[in-house]
Amino acid sequence: MVFRLAVTLTNKITEIRTLFQSDTKSVSDSIDSINSLKTKYLGRKGIISGLFRQLRDVASGDRSITGKELNKLKEEITDVLQSLLSHVSRTDIQQPQISKDIHLPGDYIRVGSLHPIEKTIQEVKRIFSSIGFSVVYGPEIDDEYHNFEALNLPKHHPARDMQDTFYVSKDVVLRTHTSNTQIHVMEEQEPPLRFIIPGRVYRNEAISVRSYCLFHQVEGLYVNEHVSFAELKGTLEYFVRNFFGDDVNARFRPSFFPFTEPSAEMDISCIFCRGGGCSTCKKTGWLEILGCGMVDPAVFEKVGYDPIKWKGYAFGMGIERLAMLKYRIDDIRLFFNGDVRFLRQFT
Ligand code: PHE
Repeated sequence: MVFRLAVTLTNKITEIRTLFQSDTKSVSDSIDSINSLKTKYLGRKGIISGLFRQLRDVASGDRSITGKELNKLKEEITDVLQSLLSHVSRTDIQQPQISKDIHLPGDYIRVGSLHPIEKTIQEVKRIFSSIGFSVVYGPEIDDEYHNFEALNLPKHHPARDMQDTFYVSKDVVLRTHTSNTQIHVMEEQEPPLRFIIPGRVYRNEAISVRSYCLFHQVEGLYVNEHVSFAELKGTLEYFVRNFFGDDVNARFRPSFFPFTEPSAEMDISCIFCRGGGCSTCKKTGWLEILGCGMVDPAVFEKVGYDPIKWKGYAFGMGIERLAMLKYRIDDIRLFFNGDVRFLRQFT
């Protein structure tokens, strides 16, 4: 009788070992299911405790050897559960995204990029900062006084027709150029001054490959006691050579702006045909890129500067124009319609 019990228990131990092996095969890779397996076998009311209770009924001569077998089974089960748990906590918790199949391609993470206009503005700022210009910003919605009148463009002056203005209300406009900010800064600060003004401007123009109802400019202003046109030329030549390359030449043509006198437009030698003549430069070998001139004394008077004592130069250029030339973009609308196929090319 006693003999039979020992044999029965030994058989049970073998049975449980097999049962445990099949249970571990079907257990899922989650902490919960491994823990419930642990309770089933090692819990206080679990299978192993039940077997230990039966040990009391085994004859004392067989008890120690059967007990050893039972302890061995308990250790085996403990070890297996422990290693299952540590494996799950590593894959489940610490590296949740790692695919089980290391042969599958990884997730593709797209890197964002700066918009080509922002890139161009940053480049312009970098170049002018290197020669002592600071950067200031002004309002995009402004009164007519700052956008026109103080810039020597009185009401009904024909030069106002050059710029198709968006009116917000009577006397309030969307600025048509960054020159408005020249006035704001001079009203607030005493000379000497040297700064650039990047920003958006608005014009009510028909939208086409070449023009859009809003675009960006960078304005420049330098005011000091002795300022010459030669310094203006030198500064702008320095800028274009840094921006487009050392082999670029510049030329100045007389022009007209009400707020500068004399006024000029600057061309650079065509960066595509190097002056030989192509379709971009319309066979002239030159590309127009900015307007500039010596600050008109009438403007200094408006802001309360003594026009005998102070001299200055100013310039203004279109950022889209610079970016289109530098990155060889042939349609200005691409900057504004947010097409990722276009934007992705600037990563
Ligand atoms: N404000 C002029 C424009 O928008 C550019 C300019 C700026 C010209 C400063 C001369 C001096 O066309």
